Amino acid sequence: MPKLGVNIDHIATLRQARREAEPDPVQAAVLVELAGAHGIVVHLREDRRHIQDRDVRLLRQVVRTQLSLEMAVTDEMVRIASEVLPDQVCFVPERRTELTTEGGLDAIANRTRFKTAVKRLKDTGIRVSLFLDPDLDQIKLASVLAADAVELHTGRYANAKAARDREREFTKLLRAGELVHKLGLALHAGHGLTYRNVGPIARLPEVQELNIGFSIVARAAMVGLERAVREMLEAMGKV
Ligand code: PXP
Repeated sequence: MPKLGVNIDHIATLRQARREAEPDPVQAAVLVELAGAHGIVVHLREDRRHIQDRDVRLLRQVVRTQLSLEMAVTDEMVRIASEVLPDQVCFVPERRTELTTEGGLDAIANRTRFKTAVKRLKDTGIRVSLFLDPDLDQIKLASVLAADAVELHTGRYANAKAARDREREFTKLLRAGELVHKLGLALHAGHGLTYRNVGPIARLPEVQELNIGFSIVARAAMVGLERAVREMLEAMGKV
């Protein structure tokens, strides 16, 4: 079974709704770890709409499992990551107007800039993952750029309404995952995963890590964070 990284951005979204001190994503991280998750994920967005710089610095001190930082490929973010030293960085595309990360990175169009950013982080000992659509050309380039991992964007699979569309998207993820593994990179997946649709993704051959946020935090509002995390771990293991 792959590892579960829980994205706690939306604990911070709730806090920012009132600009109060609660709920604190640092406290949430402790509960998520106690429930058995394998990592904590946060996205420090350029507009700081949810996670703040303070959160990332405190999480670095508190997280005992693995801290993954999602971020845009900018000088500012590379500098912050080099100071905070998360265990892993996942580079993601970022547009200010989007509600959430909408697509994978275009590593082909930004090859030189990405290569420099990957190298700068790897030189500090941080593992680097690239968030990519299941596009074979983009994945081949991830290997050329010396990334450690590819996180496949599961959003299209998750959003597909008709069974036929979902199957088509799943097949793309399957093929893309095979290539990631063949190239010697670690295979991660995430975005839009829920208790209902996570099963087949958790059983993708060689998948090492799933990163899931919204669905767990939404359920946590109803049943509590520890139970929500435990239920997701169960859903991942279900055959
Ligand atoms: N992986 C990446 C790279 C993401 O950008 C996000 C959203 O921040 C997620 C996983 C988690 O997506 P969701 O909140 O839909 O589970």
